[in-house]
Amino acid sequence: MLLVSGGAVTASELLDPRSFADAVAVSPTEAPAVAPSAPPAPDPPPPPALPPAFDRGQRSIDDPASTWVVVNKLRPLQPLDHAPADLVDIGGGMQLRAEAARAVAALRAEAAAAGLDVEVQSAYRSFEYQQGLFGNSAARFGVAGAELRSARPGFSEHQTGLAVDVGGGGCDIERCFGDTAEGRWVVANAHRTGFVVRYPAGSEQVTGYQYEPWHLRYVGPELATELHDTGVATLEEFFGLPPAPQYAAG
Ligand code: DAL
Ligand code: ZN
Repeated sequence: MLLVSGGAVTASELLDPRSFADAVAVSPTEAPAVAPSAPPAPDPPPPPALPPAFDRGQRSIDDPASTWVVVNKLRPLQPLDHAPADLVDIGGGMQLRAEAARAVAALRAEAAAAGLDVEVQSAYRSFEYQQGLFGNSAARFGVAGAELRSARPGFSEHQTGLAVDVGGGGCDIERCFGDTAEGRWVVANAHRTGFVVRYPAGSEQVTGYQYEPWHLRYVGPELATELHDTGVATLEEFFGLPPAPQYAAG
């Protein structure tokens, strides 16, 4: 604090700059103490960079044209007779959406590089084709049996143009595919080219379908890798959707 020596300052002192200077001189002993300068604390190390959280909302799961569309017994294609706009031929009289067609070629090339032959047995299926397939399945297994094996028309991933059924290792579109070298390779590697095994064993009550090691769904490498790396078995669980063991009543 400033001390005025000698008490009150007179008017003449105020007018005399020297007197005033003397009057307001600060005692050296009263000078504010300057803290001894401590060495500056080092900046804390930055926290380890976390990978950005996966953005589950970046694509539509409702739009049938989205590569993330989730189709199940509670989530029909809208409209029910949807047909993709960008189907391309992939050989064998089959078609897929262009992006999925490129991806399945990449998957097959990767498998071939590992000495394995992953063959596409079924790809895009129209509403009408799926209708016939479901009818055949019902004739063979009964309606209840067919419901575990085939989607009703308007409810099949094949109708999106993003799903394929594959075979190899002497087992086509059968459970035994999961035990072949090709089937095991698919489980471990298909995510890199954007595919997931959509109907895994143990998820029947979520997906509504029996184990289909041969049915691969293209969702793109980013989502497929996220599912693979986090160990989430189904799209329903990943997106927090209700299980779809059967169709809604009515
Ligand atoms: N087999 C699958 C569920 C389909 O028919 O789309
Ligand atoms: Zn299939």
